[in-house]
Amino acid sequence: MNDQTRVWFVTGCSSGFGRSLAERVVASGDRLVATARDAAAIADLETLAPDAVRTFALDVIDPARIRAVVAEAAMVWGRIDVAVNNAGYGLVGALEECADAQIEQNFAVNLTGPLHVMRAVLPVMRSQRSGHIINVSAAAAIANYPGFSVYGGAKCGLEGVSEGVRAEVAPLGIKVTLVRPGPFRTRFVARSLERAAGHIADYDATSGKFAQLLGRMDGRQPGDPDRAAAAIVKMVQDGRSPLRLVLGRYALDKSRKALAAAEAELAEWAPVGLAADFTA
Ligand SMILES: NC(=O)c1ccc[n+]([C@@H]2O[C@H](COP(=O)([O-])OP(=O)(O)OC[C@H]3O[C@@H](n4cnc5c(N)ncnc54)[C@H](OP(=O)(O)O)[C@@H]3O)[C@@H](O)[C@H]2O)c1
Repeated sequence: MNDQTRVWFVTGCSSGFGRSLAERVVASGDRLVATARDAAAIADLETLAPDAVRTFALDVIDPARIRAVVAEAAMVWGRIDVAVNNAGYGLVGALEECADAQIEQNFAVNLTGPLHVMRAVLPVMRSQRSGHIINVSAAAAIANYPGFSVYGGAKCGLEGVSEGVRAEVAPLGIKVTLVRPGPFRTRFVARSLERAAGHIADYDATSGKFAQLLGRMDGRQPGDPDRAAAAIVKMVQDGRSPLRLVLGRYALDKSRKALAAAEAELAEWAPVGLAADFTA
């Protein structure tokens, strides 16, 4: 293996960002361990570069399977350089409209699953004293919408955990980056957006309206997943590792607006909050 060749481990390669990233990684000459719930959905990736691609079935809600697959993946080429937590899905509906099981499942896939993947790859990366973990977040994590409270909350949790882990592992030569996309033209709305089990008319004007907006946006999202994949590969090749790589104009504008609003609110409420300290 060429010294410059990286080994990537990517979840959710059957579709969308994961599929685009898998193809881009192979085209760049790097090695790829691609995973998906249904291994048959990614078998064709091995034919792209039989010596450079391995595929495994992996559902990220299963921590034991995550550990087993990561262990096998690390043995294929003796290392894992980049691990991408891409697998995820949306849940649209007001918090009250979602069933208990829907909330738990969404957090298990979007938050707990990526945490287990990180916990599985970190021993490999610590022994290498190098590695780059990339966690796919969402614009909902910086300023959430009505109707995305659970999904955006899970992504917000992923951002918080990633920031902490980044500080834990930086001295060990390991990088952690969050990728924060806005709306991208993947199959997310068509196949990865679950509807809340319940309906409460009081939320029609907020979360109901947002769900309709998502439906109308499908096929017209401004973001191109192939270009997103190119941006991620470019960021990894660059060697510097931002805490956040915000993808697309929509997410960039939204992130800037949210930061400005947070700054203005901090200033407005500082006198009240500052009064909470001891006076002497
Ligand atoms: N597209 C957007 O506008 C957008 C915006 C912000 C963030 N994102 C995030 O981008 C990531 C990829 O989504 P996408 O837009 O590329 O949608 P997509 O085309 O529907 O792909 C979603 C991928 O996640 C996989 N997945 C879902 N649940 C899984 C599980 N339990 N275990 C393993 N894999 C699972 C799917 O695999 P199966 O084939 O097995 O279902 C599929 O490969 C997600 O984390 C999503 O939250 C997307």
